[in-house]
Amino acid sequence: MKKDLFLNALACQNRGRKPVWIMRQAGRFLPEYRALREKHSLTEMFFTPELMVEATLLPMKVIQPDAAILFSDILMVAKALGLELTFLDKVGPVVRPLVKTKEDVLALTERNIYECLGFVAKAIKELKNILPTPLIGFCGAPFTVASYLIEENHAEGLHHTKKWLYQNPESFQLLLEKITRVSISYIEMQMEAGVEAVQIFDSFAHVLSKPLLKVFSFPYLQKIINAVKARGIPVIVFMRGSCLRAEELAALSPSGISFDWQEPLTHLRKKVPSQIAMQGNFDPHLLFASHEVIRKTVKETLQEMNHDPGYIVNLGHGILPETEVEKVQTFIGAVKDAG
Ligand code: CP3
Repeated sequence: MKKDLFLNALACQNRGRKPVWIMRQAGRFLPEYRALREKHSLTEMFFTPELMVEATLLPMKVIQPDAAILFSDILMVAKALGLELTFLDKVGPVVRPLVKTKEDVLALTERNIYECLGFVAKAIKELKNILPTPLIGFCGAPFTVASYLIEENHAEGLHHTKKWLYQNPESFQLLLEKITRVSISYIEMQMEAGVEAVQIFDSFAHVLSKPLLKVFSFPYLQKIINAVKARGIPVIVFMRGSCLRAEELAALSPSGISFDWQEPLTHLRKKVPSQIAMQGNFDPHLLFASHEVIRKTVKETLQEMNHDPGYIVNLGHGILPETEVEKVQTFIGAVKDAG
């Protein structure tokens, strides 16, 4: 057994205190991150290995979680499909040209991953020399990435994506297949460079009904899960709406499932076999409560999950940018104190 809390919990064999990390921990809630962003544009941040390393390390010093997540973005694979990717301040990722038709899908060329994203491997290798904890690599799930290649604006509810998948499922699936192939190459590069766990983000799959999930999300998630597990690396699946889909996600046999806050973990555990780890599922807004309420809420959940060797503490989705650092420290401190 490894000496590491996070990896042990992911293997459902943790007998020590519960491990904790926070989605989007390398981001705007940290004053140190905001200071870095005053000096560098987002595009610079995501394409410069030295800055990726620096951003990844910031939360390790300030909030001391039990795992690090690489500072990068799920849209990086757009580069591996020959698309142009920039990040606009206050907007986020911008992909050009957008993929709108079957012809656009056919025109996407799959590039050598080391040639277009080799700098990510460089950042990972550098981090491996410095980090005191395991490093989590990640990619987007094909459905979620596809939605970013198609939509100009996600606030519109994935209108164009859903219209396409009903009107022309074959070409939509061809797009998903292409994204899956480059995502597997991308994640294999990350594993070769040294990430010790992988998380797949299917952040927008909640717009799909159960039958549609089975066609347009799960088969592609399964391929990525299998590719990661084939290398002996654990893999966590994150999906908004995961509480509603616990059985279906468990059927994909990931190493862990990251849950949102809609259901208590004790209920979810009845649907998730004991060899699959559970991660989550505190409401990100809990961190706006008083220090006392944060401590009490953490304590109650940890009491319920105390005997579960496959539990990893996290929020149910990314930390909100306006969260106070002291509240995060209280949250993490409460997990560590529960010992
Ligand atoms: O700390 C970490 O979790 C590691 C890094 C990370 C980022 N993005 C950095 C980032 C991770 C794991 C992601 C995943 C990601 N990116 C997702 C899936 C997770 C989720 O939250 O559902 C999605 C949908 C994206 C796409 C994306 N990237 C959007 C929509 C935006 C703009 C809106 C926003 O949340 O800021 C980004 C930009 C982005 N990616 C930032 C960071 C830290 C913001 C940086 C800034 O404004 O300075």
